[in-house]
Amino acid sequence: MSDRWYTKAVVYCLDIDTFADANGDGIGDIPGLIGRLDYLARLGVTCIWLNPIHPSPDRDDGYDVADFYNVDPRFGTLGDFAELLHQAGNLGIKVIIDLVVNHTSDKHPWFQSARASADSPYRDWYVWSETEPADRNQGMVFPGEQSETWSYDRTAKLWYYHRFYRFQPDLNIKNPEVREEIKKICAFWLQLGVAGFRMDAVPFIIEQTEPGNPDSPKDFPFLTELRQHVQWRKGDAVLLAEANVEPGQLPVFFGDEGGSGNRIHMLFDFMLNARMVLALAREDPEPIIDALRSTPKLPAGGQWATFLRNHDEIDLSRLTAEQRDDVFARFGPDEDMQLYGRGIRRRLAPMLGNDRRRLELAYALQFSLRGTPVLRYGEEIGMGDDLALEGRDSIRTPMQWSALPNGGFSTADPEKLIRPVVTDGDFGYERVNVTRQRHDASSLLSWFERMIRTLREAPEVGNGTCAYVDVPAPHGLLVHRADDVTGTMLFLHNLGTERCVVDLQELAGEAVLPNDVLADREYADPGKLDALTVEGYGYRWIRLRKQT
Ligand code: GLC
Ligand code: CA
Repeated sequence: MSDRWYTKAVVYCLDIDTFADANGDGIGDIPGLIGRLDYLARLGVTCIWLNPIHPSPDRDDGYDVADFYNVDPRFGTLGDFAELLHQAGNLGIKVIIDLVVNHTSDKHPWFQSARASADSPYRDWYVWSETEPADRNQGMVFPGEQSETWSYDRTAKLWYYHRFYRFQPDLNIKNPEVREEIKKICAFWLQLGVAGFRMDAVPFIIEQTEPGNPDSPKDFPFLTELRQHVQWRKGDAVLLAEANVEPGQLPVFFGDEGGSGNRIHMLFDFMLNARMVLALAREDPEPIIDALRSTPKLPAGGQWATFLRNHDEIDLSRLTAEQRDDVFARFGPDEDMQLYGRGIRRRLAPMLGNDRRRLELAYALQFSLRGTPVLRYGEEIGMGDDLALEGRDSIRTPMQWSALPNGGFSTADPEKLIRPVVTDGDFGYERVNVTRQRHDASSLLSWFERMIRTLREAPEVGNGTCAYVDVPAPHGLLVHRADDVTGTMLFLHNLGTERCVVDLQELAGEAVLPNDVLADREYADPGKLDALTVEGYGYRWIRLRKQT
């Protein structure tokens, strides 16, 4: 059995500025988060992923870093951060932070120096062109909000490259000093006690950008180099990367051709994400079965991170136009629910019509599919979104703790809050909040606690193999299994509305006292597995066998 902690982790993603405000200035902070660690411990979270914590002009929610060696003073001090790591550690919770080193903020002193003079020691830390590059208007990540990837800097009198917004100039990975600096940044935070990094935009970090070449070569050996460095400084540190590329291109991010996992430990499974959303929209498991079948084989130690919602839009760009249209029609029919022509900027609860059965189904599905589950803050109570906010901010509203003013997030005047709390309608904080759900054993929050506890008893999901069980099954029903030396789990998820019955007696020979460990309701004992009922939008997690 793997003793790598990340294969058994439950990761919870949060942004400090919208989680809990301890000093009443309207912005979440580290002491606020420390005060809520017990909540996360009870939920069953074992690892927190913090969105960027560094000083930043905050034009891209902190993904525009102005100082890699500090925390945003609005969140607290480095001292507070060390305290957070200590307190989290006491509760058995690890902390990983976003490592955003594809680019810096244009306000970062490195860029300010680089643009000011050709003699600056930082000039070559960025990517320049003396002439207007032919691919100036190609490769934008945020179409609609961004019109070019090369912008002219009047001070430097040069063009500079920025894969993302124009205020996020790309660092030049070809420069050995930049490479050393990235390692130093990692080492610094590891020394302070973080358990690893969520690496932002990895395919772009390793891009050896050549002006005029929209398909510049990539420096994969840098990932090997970084991994070695990180692992030497802290043996069990983990790299969890965002690499939203075609599935066939993913294996090289995990390891080199030698077949050993010597690069990134974990990658977000963007393909599975889009396929799960498509499957939920069509009430048909086929896209998931397809995804499971076409998953590239990972080197030992390689792991997927699964998610339904993250802090960005749901990216549907790898679906076909027809598939995307189906998802839009079902989950984001209005134009202001969509983003960049490829995504949905809503939370899951509103997408699913706030239907409790479908919410449970969706999360039971995610948490039972192979890999390490990542959960975005607020999803555990079914928070809504605020489409009046710009772009991706719609799903970045403050955490709803209670029925107190501002949802208990902050004691500041509402107009001082970093973003408004969702106040009205079905998702307003008076209806949807932690305290209320805490007192209700049948709430979504209570369900999440139960589901996560159950997962902790099913290490096959994180450590083992996951396979689609190919049996004649009613339309809408997904049957899959997870196997490891610890035993076997069998999963039934009914994506459709009709009750169905499936015959799985061919698995009976493997079963020892099969029993439901999690289900949407009380079902008859699985018995000989020859007539397993699952209600519409229902699910059953059945322990088939446990190695004793
Ligand atoms: C990643 C982040 C996104 C950010 C971008 C630029 O895609 O997930 O939130 O805007 O990188 O750093
Ligand atoms: Ca504060």
